[in-house]
Amino acid sequence: MTDIAERIRSMPKAELHLHIEGTLEPELTFQLAERNGVPLRWPDVDALRAAYDFQDLQSFLDLYYEGAGVLRTAEDFHDLAWAYFQRAAADRIVHAEIFFDPQTHTDRGIPFDLVMEGLQAARARADRELGLSTLLICCFLRHASEASAFATLEELTPWAEQVVGVGLDSAEVGNPPEKFARVFAAARERGFRAVAHAGEEGPPSYIRGALDALRVERIDHGVRCLEDPELVARLARERVPLTVCPLSNLKLRVVERLEDHNLGELLAAGLVAMVNSDDPAYFGGYLTENLLAVHRALGLDGAAMRQLGVNAFEASWLASDAKARWIAEIDALFA
Ligand code: ADE
Ligand code: ZN
Repeated sequence: MTDIAERIRSMPKAELHLHIEGTLEPELTFQLAERNGVPLRWPDVDALRAAYDFQDLQSFLDLYYEGAGVLRTAEDFHDLAWAYFQRAAADRIVHAEIFFDPQTHTDRGIPFDLVMEGLQAARARADRELGLSTLLICCFLRHASEASAFATLEELTPWAEQVVGVGLDSAEVGNPPEKFARVFAAARERGFRAVAHAGEEGPPSYIRGALDALRVERIDHGVRCLEDPELVARLARERVPLTVCPLSNLKLRVVERLEDHNLGELLAAGLVAMVNSDDPAYFGGYLTENLLAVHRALGLDGAAMRQLGVNAFEASWLASDAKARWIAEIDALFA
């Protein structure tokens, strides 16, 4: 009989909330900066890593967008995603649904198609060499305009076979979901599935807005839902998944201590919550580290850890036979 930590490490995992730009490790930032002749304002890797001390979401986003400036060529996007896929396989992630933020790149003159070519090359390689299945979700930046999101949707549409859905990320407070209702309606009409960040720093009304105005299938983060018991009842009844990111919430001071995180309460309320890594290069841990951290800090037992693992597959966009196969493997591990 292995202990819980060992089962956590070896269980098959699905990751549903992961920004590929948030997997840019400082070492790769420096390599790409040198390769592309991009000046950096930090003397070395250690100085950059030391700058990862955030007060809130915005202080992180400022650094995250700055870091993405070293990504210039299709090869860069391949190298970024391939590095993450290798990390993911080492964590026994077998399926990953990955966000990318095209406006971060197109706004500085990098063509949308170049980003896609690099990511597609890495996805094909992950499938071939690692047996890792991946899906892509194109996020609109909510601090940018509706017009910019519509322009992005136009660039995305020729890639509809390669990109399964659209999402919404970046600065939440002051940018409610309703700002993008028309863009999401157009995206859904074109066959894209939809998710949105809501209730990370923003109030529960933003979660309702994401469900009602954007008609999303999943809520990214959603941890502030507990402030609204009627909303919690609806999320449980409709089985709306919440892609929770514990170490992100700690680093961005959504919670002051991991021991204060409400993940255990979300599970106790019957919500389809699971653990994800968000921007692991910036937040100090990939998926297994997030799972081990909540196991330790919140005292989540084997049954709760199994539930987190199962919820990730239930909430994923895998075919139902693949979901059932992975869930059976988790059940066997925790039996
Ligand atoms: N972009 C990357 N990570 C994000 C997060 N946690 N919230 C909002 N936007 C993001
Ligand atoms: Zn996120």
